[in-house]
Amino acid sequence: MLQQLSRFAVGTLGKNLLSSCGARSCSPVARFQTDATGRILPHGGELKNLVLSDTNQQNDLIASCKHQKECSDRNACDVELLSVGAFSPLTGFMNHDVYSNVVKNMRLPGSNLIFGLPVVMDTNEEGIKEGERVLLTYKGQNLGVLEVESKWQPNKALEVKECYRTSSLEHPGVQMVAMERGKYYLGGKLWGFELPKRVFPCATPEEVRAMLPAGQDVVVFQCRNPVHRAHYELFTRALYAPNVRAGAVCLVHPTCGPTQDDDIPGIVRYHTYEVLKAELQNPAIKWAYLPYSMHMAGPREAIQHMLIRKNYGCTHFIVGRDMAGSKSCLSGEDFYGMYDAQDFAKQHAPELGMQTVPSADVVYTEERGYVTVDIAKKEGLHVRKLSGTKFRQMLRAGEDIPEWFAFKSVVRVLREHAQVPH
Ligand code: ADX
Repeated sequence: MLQQLSRFAVGTLGKNLLSSCGARSCSPVARFQTDATGRILPHGGELKNLVLSDTNQQNDLIASCKHQKECSDRNACDVELLSVGAFSPLTGFMNHDVYSNVVKNMRLPGSNLIFGLPVVMDTNEEGIKEGERVLLTYKGQNLGVLEVESKWQPNKALEVKECYRTSSLEHPGVQMVAMERGKYYLGGKLWGFELPKRVFPCATPEEVRAMLPAGQDVVVFQCRNPVHRAHYELFTRALYAPNVRAGAVCLVHPTCGPTQDDDIPGIVRYHTYEVLKAELQNPAIKWAYLPYSMHMAGPREAIQHMLIRKNYGCTHFIVGRDMAGSKSCLSGEDFYGMYDAQDFAKQHAPELGMQTVPSADVVYTEERGYVTVDIAKKEGLHVRKLSGTKFRQMLRAGEDIPEWFAFKSVVRVLREHAQVPH
């Protein structure tokens, strides 16, 4: 079934699904700035690995800490990503001036490097002062030490207006900033000790780079949902996009950290990815997991995902419809236009030194399988639709899920894990 579908898709989607960003034959040197191995350079030129493994030094730092903070799940993701260099060139949580510049201009001061969203540690603790150190703990682990260079009370209304394009509490990311995060932000240098122990293993940028072929294009597929047929069509077809060179690989790199409430939890999705990986057995498709917490910030979040993936060695970023988008929890209305994130990603890709592999909305049609929505309209094809909400309702009710929508193996895993959110 899988082979039939993908053969069919190859014949029907072709150029229709993926639009061109450049010529297929350009030389790799001209297209991306690479290191000696031919892999794309990290954001800012080098990976900033902040992990300190010497236990004596760790103990000295711990002894110098005046405070201890138990990280939230989101904090723990940020500490891990900083520690392994996924947020390079950052060497710690953003200070006030860096934060302000990122919020307002989407740039790091000094270097002027593009950065999508702030990376901050939050607290309600009045007693923490600038110049003091804080031990960051998480579920019994010492994740690292933060030297507080800057503590401030953020203007959250301004932050969310700039970053999320709205200050409405109906937006899940705005709610997170306003209601989950503490009153103050702390910025400063970070020393990373242990990485959080997770059910889903998260390869570091160094480890992911090592598993990618040197000198080849690496197209990354970011997702926060289980891989369904439409996703599969997107990332397999991306390898044949006009701006992707022959010999490229695709990295499927799902975020498994916290996400919006009604998404399927990362741990459950991890199991679905593992079964699919085993089923596909495609050497051109690589898999790794990202300990990132979703902000649902649409366009600005697309930039954040791209710079992170550049640090993991990726040259191309797949971006489809309504990437990292969200709806009002009251009215159900979308906060972003269907292609806002895609357009923004395309616009800023040259500055990032990457390319996008954009796709229009892909729909399943009775006559021709998956095609883009414009083709379906133009040719008057019969479109079959299943929303994420309806899909979850059907899962809970034990109803059959059509194979054109989801892989059987994925559905089986989702059913095995009892809690399917509403
Ligand atoms: S997220 O990154 O956008 O939050 P999600 O899992 O929902 O995660 O989608 C992953 C990627 O697939 C995004 O680039 C999204 O735009 C794209 N995508 C999902 N479904 C479709 C579709 N039917 N047509 C085109 N792009 C899609």
